[in-house]
Amino acid sequence: MGRSLAKNIASKGFPLSVYNRLTEAEQHVVPKFLKETADYHIQGFTDMEAFVQSMEVPRKILLMVNAGAAVDAVISQLVPLLDKADLIIDGGNSHYQDTQGRTKALDAKGIHFLGVGVSGGEQGALKGPSMMAGGATDAYASVQPIFEAIAAKDKNNRPCVALLGSDGCGHFVKTIHNGIEYAEMQLLAECFSLLAPSHAYHEIAAIFNEWNEGELASYLLEITAIILTKKEGSDYLLDKVLDQAGSKGTGSWSSQLAFQLGVPASMINAAVTARYVSVLKEKRTQLAATITRDNSEVVVDVQKLKEAYRFARLINHYQGFEIIKAASEANQWNVDISETAQIWTQGCIIKSRLMESLTELFKQETDLFKHPTIISEVKNSAKSAKIILNNAFSLDIATPCMSNSFQYWLSITSEKSSAHIIQAQRDYFGAHTYQRIDKPHTEFFTTNWNING
Ligand code: 6PG
Repeated sequence: MGRSLAKNIASKGFPLSVYNRLTEAEQHVVPKFLKETADYHIQGFTDMEAFVQSMEVPRKILLMVNAGAAVDAVISQLVPLLDKADLIIDGGNSHYQDTQGRTKALDAKGIHFLGVGVSGGEQGALKGPSMMAGGATDAYASVQPIFEAIAAKDKNNRPCVALLGSDGCGHFVKTIHNGIEYAEMQLLAECFSLLAPSHAYHEIAAIFNEWNEGELASYLLEITAIILTKKEGSDYLLDKVLDQAGSKGTGSWSSQLAFQLGVPASMINAAVTARYVSVLKEKRTQLAATITRDNSEVVVDVQKLKEAYRFARLINHYQGFEIIKAASEANQWNVDISETAQIWTQGCIIKSRLMESLTELFKQETDLFKHPTIISEVKNSAKSAKIILNNAFSLDIATPCMSNSFQYWLSITSEKSSAHIIQAQRDYFGAHTYQRIDKPHTEFFTTNWNING
């Protein structure tokens, strides 16, 4: 990813110095890169001091290293070599609280810091990523021309990059991007599972391609259709891929952050959990051998599945943006929600036609459920989601993410929830108090539930 971003920057005519540490395994990295990019104005270094000295002050240094301890290690190597007003940019998937801590610590030394979420994978980095920046306005202004030159461009030719807020804001938004990505991926996996009993891979690919021509169009849908047709010899490659999903952390961080904020993220939670369950292959295999599945003849209606998928995607995007709104308020980031959606219309993994619509809708109102077109679409497609989920139960097919979209919809549209039972239970065993419907909600009551009054 670092290599691709460097090529992208150099290809736009910016002078560039690159550095990679000199280890046994990585000794060819810099010479190989310089050979590949001989046409550009790039200087390569394996000595950090020489690298730092090669740059004009104030320096702008973009780190592309694994999130966590590696970022701190590189920063502590760099800092003694830097001058006041130099800028360090972390372009990795860092935890936003780490970014907040680093911003503060570097600020005290007079060094600027930006935390920038970069999405789009290897190809995006090379041809135009989506970039979510967090930090101080003047620090961002010093790299804005470079960022805008290298970022993806939306359908109106606007760059898919912006300063979304201060300190950790960019990394927070990138984390939630990944959370939404997890649920989007899981939903497609579930659509596949529902179609697989009655369709060949090339038929499922054709269905996905047809969906991709309309409102449902997205990068993830497009690549899933391609994946379904990839062959190795006469076999589908997919049949040889082990069904255990990896994860690097940003999905579970999304869930954790939503929990900390008290914002429902049930679809992201379900998608993260689905990956964790997938990893328990041995356990699944043992248990599967003891289970007899229902032999259902049910065939999923493709049109209804399409509507159920649309329903679940709307709920997923609703939940994702609600997390960002809550964090923005809690941290006083003042995130522009429409601008966030705009940055995500190109370059990133969750780019989609829906995101283009959201960019416009969010200009008027950031609560998706307050948009008459969206809410009526959700209401209408909920019926299909119910039918499809009934099919999934009949077929004994796990659909954790789609099920959660419907469960969330049931809950959020229930005037009366079952939480009065929870409040009574809490008060019973712990005198945690409860509010009454017949008294002002500012008053709290406790009761000895064993004695009838
Ligand atoms: C992106 C991706 C990228 C990466 C994630 C997902 O926006 O380009 O989200 O950041 O794919 O790290 O990682 P895992 O699926 O391994 O958690």
